[in-house]
Amino acid sequence: MVRKRSKRKRPPKSIKQLKEINKVEEKVFDRNTLLAISYFQNHKIFETLDYPISMGKEAVVFKATAESGNNVAVKIYRVENPTFINMYKYLKGDPRFSKIKKKRLDIILNWAKKEFANLRLAYRNKVHVPKPIKWRRNIVVMEFLGKHGIPYPTLQSYGPTDPEHPEYDFDQIINDIRMMYKIGLVHADISEYNIMITDNGPYIIDMAQAVLVKHPLSEQFIKKDVKNIIKYFDKYFKRELVELDNRKVLEYVKGKREEYR
Ligand SMILES: Nc1ncnc2c1ncn2[C@@H]1O[C@H](COP(=O)(O)OP(=O)(O)OP(=O)(O)O)[C@@H](O)[C@H]1O
Ligand SMILES: [Mg+2]
Repeated sequence: MVRKRSKRKRPPKSIKQLKEINKVEEKVFDRNTLLAISYFQNHKIFETLDYPISMGKEAVVFKATAESGNNVAVKIYRVENPTFINMYKYLKGDPRFSKIKKKRLDIILNWAKKEFANLRLAYRNKVHVPKPIKWRRNIVVMEFLGKHGIPYPTLQSYGPTDPEHPEYDFDQIINDIRMMYKIGLVHADISEYNIMITDNGPYIIDMAQAVLVKHPLSEQFIKKDVKNIIKYFDKYFKRELVELDNRKVLEYVKGKREEYR
């Protein structure tokens, strides 16, 4: 007997995979997230969602493949994030998002929107960040930083590109922070965990919390970013007997002096 083919459109394979993940980790992908994924597929932003690269508290990052064969990174914010309230202050103080309501879904959707807007602003100004491709709902699609489907390592796991010359990476990062400040953006979560070491040096990722300089806490955030990055590089610089002064580097990134050494 020949079986009749069902006329109903079968869900794409990746949607099935997501439903499998849903079974293991309850409610990572609600119905609307699955619909947003279908939207990206229908609009040929990517064809298949291949595998998760990272499953953090706030987001799951997937490697996906576009029709052209190119890899893209798909960052899906968890709509059930229990710590969403921590995101509120980064949104509320930012003039672009000041109308935000103190509601979980509103916060999370705007969080993804903010990451996309920040990436776009930084990328257009030649900051080393992944190229943003598209945003919808709680999902940000961006350039995949990696080779052969494997993401580049983070600064935390790999160390500087050239351990003999940590100043190359330090310079690139500090100049990126400086450029961001110049265009009115403060990352607000710079650390060795949010920097990937690519063939083109360090790239800054994880931009959702980044705020405009107009945010009332931006001074505090930029100080922390500079302090974090100096603290990380200090152990490499000690060998070279390079002393970094927090205040000088801070003034440099704010454009108040021409060099930081
Ligand atoms: N554009 C990208 N290309 C390749 N890999 C990426 C990309 N963006 C993120 N990743 C991978 O996903 C990981 C987590 O990304 P990110 O820091 O943006 O998310 P997160 O929300 O901070 O996650 P976590 O809660 O785990 O810190 C990175 O360390 C990196 O391995
Ligand atoms: Mg991160």
